[in-house]
Amino acid sequence: MEIKKFEVLPRHIGFIMDGNGRWAKNQGLKRGEGHIAGAKVFKKIGEYCADLGIECVTFYAFSTENWSRPQEEVNGLMDLFIEYLIDGDARLEENKERQMKLKFIGEREGLPEELLELIEKAENETKDYNKITVNIALNYGGRAEIVHAANTLVEKGLPITEENLSRAMYTADMPDPDLIIRTGGDFRISNFLLWQSAYSEFVITDTLW
Ligand code: IPE
Ligand code: IPE
Ligand code: MG
Repeated sequence: MEIKKFEVLPRHIGFIMDGNGRWAKNQGLKRGEGHIAGAKVFKKIGEYCADLGIECVTFYAFSTENWSRPQEEVNGLMDLFIEYLIDGDARLEENKERQMKLKFIGEREGLPEELLELIEKAENETKDYNKITVNIALNYGGRAEIVHAANTLVEKGLPITEENLSRAMYTADMPDPDLIIRTGGDFRISNFLLWQSAYSEFVITDTLW
C-alpha cells in the first residue's frame, strides 16, 4: 500500500471495527466469513499504521457484551484470535520487522485457555519492540476497566484521583487516543475506551470494516 506523508499524525488511534456481519450478509455469506475478512483488514490496517509512523493503535475486537452472540459466532471469533496468534514465524517476523508490540487489553478471565497462553507468549515475544504498540481489546468493556482500575487503587490504599485512575487503566503507559474511527455507520461508543476518549475526535464512516 502506498504510504502518504503527513505533517502531523495522531499519536494514538482507536478503531471500532464494526460491520463484519452486514458485509457478509451483503455478499450472501455467513457472519463468520465476515469476521474472517475482517481479520485480514485488521492486519492490513495495523501494518499501514505502523508504516505511517503511528505510535499506538487500539483495535476493538471483542466486547464484554459480545458473549451474548450465538455460541457458534463466539467460537468462530475465538478461533480467529487463536489463528492470528498461532501464525507462528510469519507473524513474529512481521512484528519484528515493523517493531510492533502486541498488547491485549480487557479481562483475561473467561477466555479459552489456549488463547490465554498464546496471548502471554505473543506479549512476551514482542515486549521490547518499540515503534508501534498494537492493543487488541478483547473481552474489553470501558466500564469494567474503570471498575477494575478503581478496585486496584482501593487494594493499594491509594486515593481515587484522575491521575491515579489513569495510571491504573490498561493503557497506563500510552497517550489517550486522539482519534477514534468507527466503521459501519453507527454513532455509538459501545463501551470502548470510555475513560481515555474524554477528548478524542470521532470519525464515523459508513464503510463496513
Ligand atoms: C464487528 O462486526 C465485529 C465484532 C463485534 C467482533 P459485527 O459482527 O458487529 O457486524 P455487524 O455490526 O453485525 O454488521
Ligand atoms: C462494537 O461492535 C464492538 C466491537 C467492534 C468489538 P458491536 O456491533 O458489538 O456494538 P453494538 O452492538 O453495535 O453496540
Ligand atoms: Mg456490530
